[in-house]
Amino acid sequence: MIVDGSPRELKTVWLEDDVVKMIDQRALPHDLRVLELRDVEDVARAIETMTIRGAPAIGAAAAYGLALAEARGTDLRRAADRLRRTRPTGQDLFSAIDRVMRAVEGGSSAREGAEALAREDEERCRAIGRHGKRLIKEGMRILTHCNAGALATVDVGTVMAPLRAARDAGREFFVYVSETRPRLQGARLTAWELGQEGIDHAVVVDGAAGLLLQRGDVDLVLVGADRIAANGDTANKIGTYPKAVLAKAHGVPFYVAAPMTTVDWGARNGRAIPIEERPEEEILEVDGVRIAPKGTRARNFAFDVTPARFITGFITELGILKPADLRKRRRGTPRRTRARTSK
Ligand code: MRU
Repeated sequence: MIVDGSPRELKTVWLEDDVVKMIDQRALPHDLRVLELRDVEDVARAIETMTIRGAPAIGAAAAYGLALAEARGTDLRRAADRLRRTRPTGQDLFSAIDRVMRAVEGGSSAREGAEALAREDEERCRAIGRHGKRLIKEGMRILTHCNAGALATVDVGTVMAPLRAARDAGREFFVYVSETRPRLQGARLTAWELGQEGIDHAVVVDGAAGLLLQRGDVDLVLVGADRIAANGDTANKIGTYPKAVLAKAHGVPFYVAAPMTTVDWGARNGRAIPIEERPEEEILEVDGVRIAPKGTRARNFAFDVTPARFITGFITELGILKPADLRKRRRGTPRRTRARTSK
């Protein structure tokens, strides 16, 4: 990730001298701050407050949180339980914790497990870029939602990887960025990343998707994922599902870019995916200023589930898979893996 066009490179989250460092995503795009977290409780709170967010980035933060717990002599199982209680929807949180705990059981340190996970996360994103590049054609208009960029992973991003690869191949295209109420990950983070990359874009309100698709102004919808059930039903940021329905209604391909670590083989379909509800204030207030009348309640659903039949394909590190390919892979998954619950 290049900051302010300078050669300084930052990851979203990393470990340095037994301190977890991460970009404070609440401060972007106006301030680029790096926070230093010294114990597992700090990491858990950073995940809960969305100081760090995006499924693979949350997973890496939790993995590093376990490395911190190990360095401080904190009980690893208790640390893992605390981290598992932070955000319920994204599968990478649970797969990352399981992976580090398995590494520890196998005789490695939590630190080694976390570092390996972070390296693999980047490699998976680069592979997603190589596979997804062919979908991004010259002159295309692409609609995205939320932020599935470098900030949502250790580096590189999922949606951002094919965009960057296509740009590096000399293709020009345009990205409509859905602002993503209420936390505005599109307007604040995706717009910032696209600007850093020099990719032409415009922010639209979430409700503009219908108009854009109806006018024929979108050639491809490309989003990330928080959890993919074994049948291909996919949870992603609230507002993703309506875009998928609109895309199908207008004959526009709808792709999900995600690593295989986002697949929950234990979830048969989308109904098994827990949907996080966040504090009402995120909707009722903007920058601390109340916008709804006093006494008004809000329901702040953080994610929705897009049924597999609306998804054209998944851009993964293994290649571009159809929902039916996922179902075939599930049949080849050992029962033990399928049964493991992520809560
Ligand atoms: O609530 P957030 O910001 O953590 O939600 C993030 C998303 O919905 C992303 O699209 C998803 O995590 C994929 S990130 C590669």
